[in-house]
Amino acid sequence: MPQPTSSLFAGIPTPLRWVGESNGHLELLDQTLLPTQFVWIACRGVDVLVEAIQSLRVRGAPAIGIAGAYGLVVAAREAVDAGFVPEMARSHVRQQAEALACARPTAVNLRWAVERSLVVLERAPLESSAAAIREILLEEALAIHEEDRRLCTAIGRYGAAILPAGDLLTHCNTGALATGGDGTALAVITTAWQEGRRFMVFADETRPLFQGSRLTAWELVQRGIPVTVLVDAAAGQLLRTGRIAACIVGADRITAAGDVANKIGTYSLAVLAAAHGVPFFVAAPSSTFDLLLDSGDSIPIEQRDGDEVLRPLGIAAAPEGAHAYNPAFDVTPARFIRAIITERGVIEPVSRNRIAEIILDQ
Ligand code: MRU
Repeated sequence: MPQPTSSLFAGIPTPLRWVGESNGHLELLDQTLLPTQFVWIACRGVDVLVEAIQSLRVRGAPAIGIAGAYGLVVAAREAVDAGFVPEMARSHVRQQAEALACARPTAVNLRWAVERSLVVLERAPLESSAAAIREILLEEALAIHEEDRRLCTAIGRYGAAILPAGDLLTHCNTGALATGGDGTALAVITTAWQEGRRFMVFADETRPLFQGSRLTAWELVQRGIPVTVLVDAAAGQLLRTGRIAACIVGADRITAAGDVANKIGTYSLAVLAAAHGVPFFVAAPSSTFDLLLDSGDSIPIEQRDGDEVLRPLGIAAAPEGAHAYNPAFDVTPARFIRAIITERGVIEPVSRNRIAEIILDQ
């Protein structure tokens, strides 16, 4: 089966891939073990994939969208293995689609990709066998994966054109590990570097799961781009020094008004950037926009297990009996964002009209 190619950078594996023909399976790189171990998980059942999404073995808004689309192929595979007749196969896939779409609530790319694949399922003739359904769902998943690879490149180009010269500050992981291509915010940084610009990338470690230090710093080292890791709380002091030319982050959901949900800590960073007059950029594909929501207050924010805070990396960091507050995401109001970089162009200023112009008019 022709596969979307992984990152341009030989050292960085794609976070997920379909192995074999339509009777094959999905493979995921277990990102909870990076950067020290490279372990691939075979997903032959939807339950394995749902667990992998919930445990952040596969993570990043675009990547979980792609995983969701492949998840429907896995569901169709289950229907083939169970010997389901067409009607049962279809209803099995629909049921599993809902389990996949609900696996994580904040990144809208997951539901977007699952629903896009369901449209393909609903268009297929009613008499389609489970194997035929599996085939068309695989075609769609591969198309979503390949599109994501291409749009990362476009985001990189649009973003590099507006990124100010100088050192950059980023948060969480928005690279090849989070997408089907070279990333969103990290693709912008990489494109600017490839164009010959030179700078230091400061990467917030991104508590509590360390996507910044474990994943972003690792990707940048692979790309040969200098990286300095800081604890999230050091961002204010760094911005105060005047060294940072711009902050750039990804997104999990963007509303019609331009409010952005992204990894916890993004909002604090945006407020700090505003306080120091540093431009704050968001890079995301059009599939991250949820134009049915106006205000960021309506975005569902995933609350995660308190142990992630109380026992980071499995080490007790708080006394028994302490409670934890552990929202996985926060919302940055549009007024703090200089521009949103998409594969369709740059949204600047971040306003309802400009968003509609770029996202709806194509
Ligand atoms: O919880 P995660 O690791 O899935 O959160 C990821 C982020 O918040 C990213 O910034 C976002 O998904 C954009 S990835 C291109």
